[in-house]
Amino acid sequence: MVTDFTIIDNLRIRTNDRVAIFGRTGSGKTHLAKNWLLPHYDKYVFWDIKHENTDVEHDIVINTPRELKKNITKYNKILYQPDDLTDRDFNSICEIIFDSKDNSLYVDEAALITTPSKIQYWHKVIATQGRSYNVGIINVSQRPRDIHNTLISESEHLLIFSLSLETDIIKIRQQVGTAADEIYYLPKYHFLYHNVETNKSYIFKPIKSLTTEQLTEKKIPKLELYRPDLEEYVMLTTR
Ligand SMILES: Nc1ncnc2c1ncn2[C@@H]1O[C@H](COP(=O)(O)OP(=O)(O)OP(=O)(O)O)[C@@H](O)[C@H]1O
Ligand SMILES: [Mg+2]
Repeated sequence: MVTDFTIIDNLRIRTNDRVAIFGRTGSGKTHLAKNWLLPHYDKYVFWDIKHENTDVEHDIVINTPRELKKNITKYNKILYQPDDLTDRDFNSICEIIFDSKDNSLYVDEAALITTPSKIQYWHKVIATQGRSYNVGIINVSQRPRDIHNTLISESEHLLIFSLSLETDIIKIRQQVGTAADEIYYLPKYHFLYHNVETNKSYIFKPIKSLTTEQLTEKKIPKLELYRPDLEEYVMLTTR
């Protein structure tokens, strides 16, 4: 059973929360997920449409909704690399995850499965009702403008690395207020974190790769604030 635990004091992400991660290509989204965020989760299904994340911690690789249904309660960390790259396949796995409860879905390239005007039915159900069923979701995309707004508006946590386009920063400003201006100045691999509940934003330093020992012993280093001497600067509470 997924517990309602706090990941770290600063972020207070629970495994049944909705999280959105944005940032241009190479900015560090997947690195953060593999080396910091997901290691805090007891259970997840990592949707890997491009079959390129074999290094994420997993107990089994699954390729079809049928196999997923059979194994979802038997394995904690599932790497889902679809044989069938259709929307239908993705919708089916969302339904299976939602029905099985107590799990989380990680969508590494959300823009390959949603657009601003298209979202699969069960993807939306997880985003809007997952919390009550203990089903979390992490949607990752290079551009916030590329994915359906539900995935942003329902998120309790936004993690934003460097963005290239002004239009994307404007989109983020609608959620986080003027703290979004900090995105222009983010150094390499740093990210802005916005907590929707508290309406506070922080900037964090890059996280290092987890060693095998840290991973097996679940000793995951805490995030460090960027410029903690400038508390006012990093805690931007405007909207
Ligand atoms: N904090 C970090 N410290 C050191 N190297 C990092 C860090 N974050 C990312 N990198 C390195 O930068 C490269 C790109 O990172 P990553 O794959 O996480 O980018 P991404 O945002 O997921 O890009 P894409 O959208 O193309 O998938 C990787 O080789 C990764 O190891
Ligand atoms: Mg990536």
